[in-house]
Amino acid sequence: MRRVLFSLLATTVLASPSLLAAPHQVKIDADLTQQGPVINKDIYGQFAEHLGHGIYEGIWVGEDSGIPNTNGFRNDVIAALKDLQVPLIRWPGGCFADEYHWREGIGPKDQRPVKVNTHWGGVEETNAFGTHEFFQLTEMLGADAYINGNLGSGTVQEMAEWLEYMTSDKNSTLANERRANGREAPYKIAYFGIGNESWGCGGHMRPEYYTDLYRQYATFLKAPRGLRPKFVASGGQQDQTEWTEVLSTNIKRDMAGISHHYYTLPKGDWQNKGDALGFPKAEWLSTMVRTYKMDAFIQANVAVLDKNDPKGKLGFYLDEWGTWYDPEPGREPGFLYQQNSLRDAVVAAVNFNIFHHYAQRVQMTNIAQMVNVLQAMILTDKEKMLLTPTYHVYHMYKVFQDATSIPFNISTDNYGEGDEQVPAVTASLAKGKDGKLYLALVNLDPDEAASISLSLKGFKVSALSGQILTAEQMDSHNTFAKPNQLKPKAFNAKLSALRLPAKAIVVAELK
Ligand code: AHR
Repeated sequence: MRRVLFSLLATTVLASPSLLAAPHQVKIDADLTQQGPVINKDIYGQFAEHLGHGIYEGIWVGEDSGIPNTNGFRNDVIAALKDLQVPLIRWPGGCFADEYHWREGIGPKDQRPVKVNTHWGGVEETNAFGTHEFFQLTEMLGADAYINGNLGSGTVQEMAEWLEYMTSDKNSTLANERRANGREAPYKIAYFGIGNESWGCGGHMRPEYYTDLYRQYATFLKAPRGLRPKFVASGGQQDQTEWTEVLSTNIKRDMAGISHHYYTLPKGDWQNKGDALGFPKAEWLSTMVRTYKMDAFIQANVAVLDKNDPKGKLGFYLDEWGTWYDPEPGREPGFLYQQNSLRDAVVAAVNFNIFHHYAQRVQMTNIAQMVNVLQAMILTDKEKMLLTPTYHVYHMYKVFQDATSIPFNISTDNYGEGDEQVPAVTASLAKGKDGKLYLALVNLDPDEAASISLSLKGFKVSALSGQILTAEQMDSHNTFAKPNQLKPKAFNAKLSALRLPAKAIVVAELK
């Protein structure tokens, strides 16, 4: 095993080989009077696409449903999401966004056209959930809106008119149409994406071609003063930096940030991704290794931004990330429904710690997706609902929303062997909006505990109190029959005797 030293703000990594006995030895030192960047609450953003049961059945069942609902929205799902303090929701896609025509989703529901969702399962899209329903959702949850416009199969005029319809405060025909459809005040849009995955389902474009289209589209996207969203350019994926390079070099206005996508596939193969449950230990390790690549991918893209945007105006948004497994036998593969285990919770927490590390540029992310799709917070089956381990980890990390990060050094053993090694433990340290100090610790190793030694200056700390999420089984998960099998438990420890169990996540207040 190796010992590595990580620094939150300086990204220096020192490595020196040495053999160590279990448990992992981890040292964290920090001066608690120091401040790093604010961890934007939008890092905890969600994504709801017209895909499988992500919206229909998962969130929206319609007013006539036997499932208890308010104006068509499931009461159980809405209550759980409210408790999660969702800051932001991206909609309507994804790939779906580039075939979505907003006019089809407004006005009387029985007059809305029924289309075919060609990307996801070829099912009927009734358009019953449209612009007004989306904003009802965000307003019920107190979340901000991230709308993704259709660049792939739409037009400049269509996108510009959608923005006017949503945001205009004038007596224009479009604004009055919105009023006639029941909404007097303009809607507030936090982010507006111009296209999605333009290198793939969004049009198979080259970055240079997309850049020119972006400049053209952005020119005509108008909104009243104070209601202008942050415009998001659709960037690259995985280890790519080319899109960030071309976009940040050639787009000089109307771009708040560049989006990037990275999914964790346990086996790294789109044809053979790996199973959500019942996986071998080797796939726990390969999942952690592939998750941790996020750090290098962000680092490489941030280096490009630091070169082309030295004033730090542009954000780097991971607006799709999470685990992606093989479909469960017997389910429609195009619905991307998958179970969610302790492994997913560890993946989410590792990503949060990475995002916090790069909080200066990583100001917004959206996990894919909120309900019933990929690494979901919530799974539903008709009237039943369960909270996944990923939900619980989002809940535990709520204290980091808009917290001020505190720089720290961490020295930790590695977990894994040969080419497949990651830090055994990753962490976050921050001062919450409530003024309290919070520490998050994640043990990526499924077998070995970690002994944590904390050296904290500038503040008298003697104990930790918070929550822990862990289990005996790597694929421990909740089912509709046993929805509370895996959930956080209370965690209290003395600073002098801090031990992190194997495959565990702790979020605790320093006292
Ligand atoms: O999240 C599922 C899909 O993954 C999205 O629609 C697309 O953008 C990505 O390829």
